[in-house]
Amino acid sequence: MTTVTAAEAAYVVAALLFILSLAGLSQHRTSRSGVVWGIAGMVIALAATVGLASRSITATGLVLIAVATAVGAGIGLWRARVVEMTGMPELIAIMHSLVGLAATFVGWNGYLDVDAGSNGGEKLSGSLLGIHHAEVFIGVFIGAVTFTGSVVAYLKLSARIKSNPLTLPGKHILNVGALVAFVVLTVAFVARPNIGLLIAVTVIALALGAHLVASIGGGDMPVVVSMLNSYSGWAAAASGFLLANNLLIVTGALVGSSGAYLSYIMCKAMNRSFISVIAGGFGTPAAAADDGEQGEHREINAEETAELLRDASSVIITPGYGMAVAQAQYPVAELARKLRERGVEVRFGIHPVAGRLPGHMNVLLAEANVPYDVVLEMDEINDDFAATSVVLVIGANDTVNPAATDNPASPIAGMPVLHVWEAANVVVFKRSMAAGYAGVQNPLFFRENTQMLFGDAKQRVEDILRGLDALDAPVPEMAGTSR
Ligand code: TAP
Repeated sequence: MTTVTAAEAAYVVAALLFILSLAGLSQHRTSRSGVVWGIAGMVIALAATVGLASRSITATGLVLIAVATAVGAGIGLWRARVVEMTGMPELIAIMHSLVGLAATFVGWNGYLDVDAGSNGGEKLSGSLLGIHHAEVFIGVFIGAVTFTGSVVAYLKLSARIKSNPLTLPGKHILNVGALVAFVVLTVAFVARPNIGLLIAVTVIALALGAHLVASIGGGDMPVVVSMLNSYSGWAAAASGFLLANNLLIVTGALVGSSGAYLSYIMCKAMNRSFISVIAGGFGTPAAAADDGEQGEHREINAEETAELLRDASSVIITPGYGMAVAQAQYPVAELARKLRERGVEVRFGIHPVAGRLPGHMNVLLAEANVPYDVVLEMDEINDDFAATSVVLVIGANDTVNPAATDNPASPIAGMPVLHVWEAANVVVFKRSMAAGYAGVQNPLFFRENTQMLFGDAKQRVEDILRGLDALDAPVPEMAGTSR
């Protein structure tokens, strides 16, 4: 068997492993094996690619590849070990930016190699040369859009810049204009390739990527992250065509299509138009000015909450990002267990974008051994709030904001939310009256049946557990009452 045949066979195995990996990652129970399949596929893919490359590069080149692989693997391992669960979206965003940057470099290299004849470029002619030029241009465009879009997403997700949508005058005309310019420049480049056109498309794509993501508001960022995931896949596929690497084409298409499908599912869950999000907030309502505090809020302490829970017949817990920050999932699971032992019906209501990752809350609750059958999705539980005695909103904010249903001018208008306010009593765990991720004030906090329990969610839930124990403890007899 020649090196080429062996490498192609290895590529097929790696592609199958990537498909298995995606299938495994689609469910919590199989997600660990999904990660293992993915790692195995990537090891095989790397080994086969280096094997293929070894036929045409020098020993120094091989050493450089080994050093680059070791440095990249080292950085990847380090980041994966130190990243907090809550920091995952920004890590993913910055990784997407690297894929976009790599695709841009591959495109530029493809042009310099063939057209400028540097580095011993191959000779292409006729329609093959035209296809090559189209691949270069499209690869550079998708790569550059992905690069700056992901950098802006990283800056927003890590709160280095504000998550408010940028609303430049005529922003849709700017976006459409950039796309039209791309099509016109592609035709011109295929007809008469030159470095000036390639510089022009790179600059336009860099500006378009930044503008598309900057135009999107905080509440829509989950969709943007999965959109960028999809773009990075298409950028990798474009590089695959340029490098004539079948595995890169297959893997890029897998990432591109699964990311697009995830975005579509998330758009449906958030009642957003898929087209409007990929077009940079096309058609989304103008953001209303922050509406400030909306009246008096009432406070409750942990002992009073324990009493409320003791007398409850049914409880729904709706966790959000704050539960992840406080790492409160273990005492929350303990609270649910204790209440169930006392005969209280306890269930969890999970919003599709609660936290900062798809499935974030499910992962935390599974980690704390909360049984799967009491963890319900928003659609499964939304009709049950009205018949519930107590709702504990643990570090959630945007996902329980009634403004999404009541206020058409709200930036999150139309986003489906958990109808917690329909319950008899709502206790909101948070540290202050600050707004959630979308930067929108929450009228829930000022409703008559809502009470705020301020402080770190983990500490407050632990206080409630102690409060319940104290309520259970036998009342010491008063001196002299025994006679
Ligand atoms: P958020 O709206 O982000 O609100 C979380 C709340 O937790 C904050 O109001 C904060 O209030 C509170 N909090 C923070 N640390 C806390 C602690 N230690 N103890 C108690 N409370 C704490 O949460 P959500 O309802 O889960 O909504 C998620 C938001 O993130 C949505 O807007 C969504 O679009 C966006 N987003 C989601 C994703 C995915 S894929 N899930 C990705 C990116 C963005 P205090 O500061 O007052 O404590």
